[in-house]
Amino acid sequence: MQPNLSVTIGKLKLKNPILVASGTFGYGEEFKDFLDLSKLGAIVTKTITLNPRQGNPAPRTCETPAGMLNSIGLENPGLEAFIAEKLPILKKIDVPIIISIASLDNPEEFIAVARHLDKVKEVQALELNISCPNIQHTRLISQDPKSTYNLVSRVRKVTRKTLITKLSPNVTDITEIAKAAQAAGSDAVSLINTLTGMSIDTETKRPKIATLTAGLSGPAIRPLAVRMVWEVYQKIKIPIIGMGGIMDTSSALEFFIVGATAISVGTANFINPKVTVEIIDGLKKYLLRNKINSIYKLIGSLECKK
Ligand SMILES: Cc1cc2nc3c(=O)[nH]c(=O)nc-3n(C[C@H](O)[C@H](O)[C@H](O)COP(=O)(O)O)c2cc1C
Repeated sequence: MQPNLSVTIGKLKLKNPILVASGTFGYGEEFKDFLDLSKLGAIVTKTITLNPRQGNPAPRTCETPAGMLNSIGLENPGLEAFIAEKLPILKKIDVPIIISIASLDNPEEFIAVARHLDKVKEVQALELNISCPNIQHTRLISQDPKSTYNLVSRVRKVTRKTLITKLSPNVTDITEIAKAAQAAGSDAVSLINTLTGMSIDTETKRPKIATLTAGLSGPAIRPLAVRMVWEVYQKIKIPIIGMGGIMDTSSALEFFIVGATAISVGTANFINPKVTVEIIDGLKKYLLRNKINSIYKLIGSLECKK
């Protein structure tokens, strides 16, 4: 018998728990020649904002040992063009769509975008990106429990869609922020966004990224992400979508074992665009081999008794 891979996140029923991470899969269409998109658990789109954004100046990415730095700076066509140009294509894919939304410095924009998308029936869920490290802020919303609570509760009031809050690892205690998101009515949390880093060209003594600092992703951050998912799992009741350096089935399994209900694949899509379907197959095989009939039996199954 095939193991049951389906999971529930808020009102969202997913046939499997393998998602793609915001910003690493465009608006879905870019990957359609590489894999059958309908096999995915859900697609999380590149973050959109109320108004179009050109993003940060180049260079915006560079490779690092076991990962990459990026400072895209939320380049996107804006809400109106997203609805006119991207959504019609996304709608044709038989897969739940999670729209990642953000604002630069104005919470009213978050509310406006969420209120608008609440009326769009093809949108199943919203992910609040309150953790992008690549915009010129003194402090991110997700670096303060009070600001997180205020923003999430305001968005909660304007939408009945499943609400996911995306957390930043650039904090001392991520569980405080997760608890604030839960208390404010978030249906789930996703973690982690990228870690702020820097890389220098030693010949020119210039930073490799125009904005000096940028977000680190890829396998380098996986142990940190796994640790944070484990910490959050022990403190909240809502589901966790885990991500950070997932490259294959084995790394995805780590996240389920420490308590993630679903996982998102980011940087690995650039290396192997088929990686998500390989992980879905690998997960099925692992569950069969270990005689586990439901993914829920794997979630939080960490053995830590001495
Ligand atoms: C090029 C690039 C662009 C990204 N853009 C976004 C974005 O628009 N919104 C967002 O919430 N996260 C964005 N992220 C962060 C990823 O969604 C993810 O949280 C992070 O990269 C960790 O996962 P990974 O190590 O599997 O890439 C971006 C990451 C990369 C590498």
